[in-house]
This record gives sequence, C-alpha cells and structure tokens, in this order.
Amino acid sequence: MKTIYLTGFMGSGKTSVGRELARLLETFVYDTDVLIEEQENCTILELFVEKGEEYFRELEGKILKSLPTQNGVVTTGGGIVINKSNRQWMKDNGTWVYLHCDPSVISKRLESDESRPLLAGEKKNNLRKLFEIRLPIYMEAPIIVDTTSLSIEQAAKEIFTRINQ
Ligand code: S3P
Repeated sequence: MKTIYLTGFMGSGKTSVGRELARLLETFVYDTDVLIEEQENCTILELFVEKGEEYFRELEGKILKSLPTQNGVVTTGGGIVINKSNRQWMKDNGTWVYLHCDPSVISKRLESDESRPLLAGEKKNNLRKLFEIRLPIYMEAPIIVDTTSLSIEQAAKEIFTRINQ
C-alpha cells in the first residue's frame, strides 16, 4: 500500500482521523508537526517565534520527504500544501487526501486554541482569509473527503473506502 498523506486546514481533524485510519489499516502513523517538535525540541509556536516560518517550512518539507512512501499514514501541518514540491511529492509517491471541513466548524473548534501561530491576533479573520487562500490548493488533491458532519471514525472509514476503490 502506498502511504496516505492527510492534508487539510488547521483543526480539520487530520491527526485524530489519521490515527484511526492507521488503526483500520493496521499500519504506522507519522505526524510531521510532532516529528518537527521532537527534532527541534520545542513547540511549533516556539519554533515560529524563534526561527520563523521559513525555517519551519524547510524542515516540514524535509521531514515529509524523509518518511516511508509505503505502508504508512502521514498526518501533516495545514500549510504543507503551500509548497509546490510537497504537493508534487504527495501526488507522485502516495495517496494525497484532502480532509475538507467547513470554516465555521473549524472556527468553533479553535476558539480557545493558542497553539497556532498563524491564527494569532484576530483569529476569526485570519482563519477566514487563510482558508480562502488555501482552499483552491487543497482542492488539487485527488481524493477529497468532506468531514464537516462526520465523526472521527466515520471520516476514517470514508477514507478507507475511497482509497480501496
Ligand atoms: C500550520 C498548521 C499547523 C502547524 C503550523 C502551521 C499551517 O498544523 O503546522 O502551526 O500553516 O496551517 P495543524 O494543521 O495540525 O494545526
């Protein structure tokens, strides 16, 4: 089985759905943000403050491309799709899935979250703007699953079905 790359906006459930999907597939799950935090020994927020977004993006791409392209589920940070070479990598080496979620649902989920540097400040406005910019990029994914009204288990099952079609 080719590795499945789960992409989507912050708060769209990639990490939880990815864990459940890996359980269904009886395979390994890797999370690019967790790997970056382990490697850098700090939180993503600290990394953005101390070294900046460009540094983070470089690491993110390197980690993506270092992970196995067979028999895995990779859950990614919401911005991994910004970089064209990351999109190409996911298309060429695995199954690229976009987990869509309505921005109003995401907004509610992230209301009290302070861990996402790109939403700091005017959170609702920043989220809407970023969502609009990113949506057409996410939509390039060959598999799109709308998770807005799905539970974690339902979303994982839906991906499981779609990748086996
Ligand atoms: C980001 C999403 C975050 C994290 C970083 C940047 C983004 O991951 O990688 O804060 O640019 O959308 P989640 O999507 O897991 O929140």
